[in-house]
Amino acid sequence: MKNNFNNSVKVNSKGHLEVGGCDCLELAEKYGTPLYVLDETMIRNICREYLQSFKKYYDGNGLPLYASKALCCMEMCRIAKQENIGLDVVSGGEIYTALKAGYPAEKIHFHGNNKTVDEIEMAVEAGVGKIVMDNLSEIQRVNNAAEKFGKTVNVSMRIKPGVDAHTHDFIRTGQIDSKFGFALETGEAFEGVKEVLKAKNLNFTELHCHIGSQIFDIAPFVAAAEIMMDFIAKIKNELGHQITELNLGGGFGIKYVDSDKPVAYEKYMEAVSKAIKAKAEEHNIPVPYIYIEPGRSIVGEAGVTLYTVGSVKEIPNVRSYVAIDGGMTDNIRYALYGSAYTVINASKADKDADYKATIAGKCCESGDLVQENCMIAKPDDGDVIAVLSTGAYNYSMASNYNRNPRPAIVMVKDGESRVIVKRESYEDIIRNDI
Ligand SMILES: Cc1ncc(COP(=O)(O)O)c(C=O)c1O
Repeated sequence: MKNNFNNSVKVNSKGHLEVGGCDCLELAEKYGTPLYVLDETMIRNICREYLQSFKKYYDGNGLPLYASKALCCMEMCRIAKQENIGLDVVSGGEIYTALKAGYPAEKIHFHGNNKTVDEIEMAVEAGVGKIVMDNLSEIQRVNNAAEKFGKTVNVSMRIKPGVDAHTHDFIRTGQIDSKFGFALETGEAFEGVKEVLKAKNLNFTELHCHIGSQIFDIAPFVAAAEIMMDFIAKIKNELGHQITELNLGGGFGIKYVDSDKPVAYEKYMEAVSKAIKAKAEEHNIPVPYIYIEPGRSIVGEAGVTLYTVGSVKEIPNVRSYVAIDGGMTDNIRYALYGSAYTVINASKADKDADYKATIAGKCCESGDLVQENCMIAKPDDGDVIAVLSTGAYNYSMASNYNRNPRPAIVMVKDGESRVIVKRESYEDIIRNDI
C-alpha cells in the first residue's frame, strides 16, 4: 500500500503546480486566496485503504472512525458516510455538523474531556452511537441525561495506558500527565470502571485509548493495544464484566516534509491485529471488535493551501520575509508547535528551489509565520505559494484574528473543482455583533 504522499501534486507543462489535475494558479484566480484545496480522490482512497486493512488483517471485525476534529465540514461528513466509515466528534458543533449533513447518529462516537450538560443531552437525544467517558464527573452526567430521555446509552471509557509515543509534548496525550482520560497506573481507571458499572442507564461495552499524534512507530500502538487487552482481562476476572470493543484511537503520522517516513496503514493493522489476537488467547477472552480514529492521516496530505505573495522584504544578513495574504488565521500550527511544512512557489514550480524564505502572514503578531528559512524558487509579487499537507488541523483551527475572513475550501478531482465551504464575507464577520 502506498502512502499517497501528494500523489496528486505535480508540475504541469506551464511550470505551475497542479493538484488533483487543477492548475494552482487557475484555482487561485478563480476562487481567490488564501484558499484551502482538498484532493477528493486521495481522501476517499485513504478511507478505503483503512477499511481494506481491517478486512485483510482483522476479518473486517472493526471500523475506522474519521476523527472529524482534523477537518469538520458537512462535505467531509458526507464523504465519511459514503465511504462507510464512522465518525469521532468532540463537541456539540461537530455533532450538529454531522447530523445536518445526514450522517447517521448511531455511527458517531462522542469524545471530549469536558462535555457540557447541553452537549451530552444533545448527543443522547440524537442517539449517538457511543459516548466516551473521560472522567468520574461525566459518568453521572451521562447517566442523568440517559434517564432524562428514557434511554440506555452505549458508553466507552478513555484510558491513559501510559505509553509514551515520543512525539511533540503539546500533542502527546497517552501518558499520565494529560488532561484526557482515566489513568491506569494510579488505579483511577479501575475505580472509574466500577462507577460506570453501577450506573443504571449506561451500557458499557468499550474501552478507548489514544496515545498521541503524528506517530511513525508501530511499537507504541502495539504496546498500548496489549496494555488495553490486559485491562479488559482484569475487568473480566475481577468484576465479571466482559468488554467486547476496543478503540485504539488515532495518531498515524503523515508526511509534511521529506524526512517524515509514514508507515503504511496496513503494517500497523497487521501488527496490532496479531498482538490483540495473541492477548485474547493468553487471557481466554473474546477477540474484541476494534475501532481506530484516524484524523490527520485521512485529510492531512490531501490538503494544499494557496496564498498570493504581496511583498518580499530582504533584510541583509538576517533573512527574507515573503509576505502572504493568510497566515496564523488559516494555519496556526507553526506558531503553536513549530510544525514543519513543504512550501512550493506554485508559479515557478519548475524552477530550482534556491531561495531561502521565511513565509510571513498578515496578522499583527511577529510570530505569525507559516514557515521559517524554507527553500523555494525566488518569488515575485503576485506569485502563488503552495503549502503542502495542510488538510488537517488548519481549517479546523482557523480563526478570525484581525477580523480576517476564513478562506474557502475547494475540492478537486480529475481536473474539476467545486467549493465545499464558502469563503467568509465581511458580513459574516459582523453577523453576531450587536
Ligand atoms: C481521541 C482522539 N482520537 C483521534 C484523534 C485524531 O488523531 P490524528 O489526527 O493524529 O489521527 C485525536 C487527536 O487529538 C484524539 O484525541
